[in-house]
Amino acid sequence: MTLAYFNGKIVDIDEPVIPIDERGHQFGDGVYEVIRFYGKKPFMLKEHIERLYTSAKAIKLNISKEPTEMESLMMELVEKSGLEDADLYMQATRGIAPRNHLFPKAPASISMTVKPARQMDEEVKQKGAKVLLLEDERWQNCYIKSLNLLPNILAKQEAYENGCTEAVLVRDGFITEGSSSNIFMVKDSQVYTAPLSNHILAGITRLAVKEVAHELNISFVEESFTPAAFYQADEAFLTSTSSEVLPITLADGKVIGSGKPGPITAKLSKRFTEKTR
Ligand code: PDD
Repeated sequence: MTLAYFNGKIVDIDEPVIPIDERGHQFGDGVYEVIRFYGKKPFMLKEHIERLYTSAKAIKLNISKEPTEMESLMMELVEKSGLEDADLYMQATRGIAPRNHLFPKAPASISMTVKPARQMDEEVKQKGAKVLLLEDERWQNCYIKSLNLLPNILAKQEAYENGCTEAVLVRDGFITEGSSSNIFMVKDSQVYTAPLSNHILAGITRLAVKEVAHELNISFVEESFTPAAFYQADEAFLTSTSSEVLPITLADGKVIGSGKPGPITAKLSKRFTEKTR
């Protein structure tokens, strides 16, 4: 079953527990993480926890819980849910205080939800996703997993309204990442993705795919590429906790490679799936 947690209490997912003066709600003043559990086991939990504390530090948010306490709480919630494959969302915000831009003295709020793992549409998985390239309108600190997702939401919605699964964002003439994923292309048997910087989120699935590529002796190049290079790629794919490794076969109406999910993408995806189970 689905369940939720707010500041020390496990509650029903529909129970109204967030006060009006909660800063996540009023300002988006917080950070978050999404962790997938496979067969009740979290995938790369340490890496997610590390990124959470990096994000919190970057916005000067003091999460009162120690990383190990946070891990135990997450494990406990998923155990209580009884779910085998689950998506755990957790948010840490600057707490509950009368509205004022300045930091309050309030302790951080911690909230979580546990739901059955969201499955990607089977047809998209088999045939590959369509993507729409859009200008990356986000701020300069995209390495922070911030609750402020307006540009991401607007981009994803525009992609959806154009029959696409994901928006691929372009900054200064180079592809950065997707609205909620990292973006990759394959050219001459080499995998390319944007290098880590303040303009992209350091995806945990991206890291897993980097490890998998090394295991499979597939060259993994962290180098930015242009939309023109992307359209001309042999293969393309995206990664995220919820989408895993998802082939991309159409970008802005242009067919990528053969128009079918490519062999290198398939190899990486297969090995990634083995790692998660
Ligand atoms: N999306 N870039 C952005 C902007 C994201 O929001 C995400 C994650 C990623 C991939 O990160 P990871 O592999 O750690 O999930 C990259 C959320 C978590 C999702 O839709 O699953």
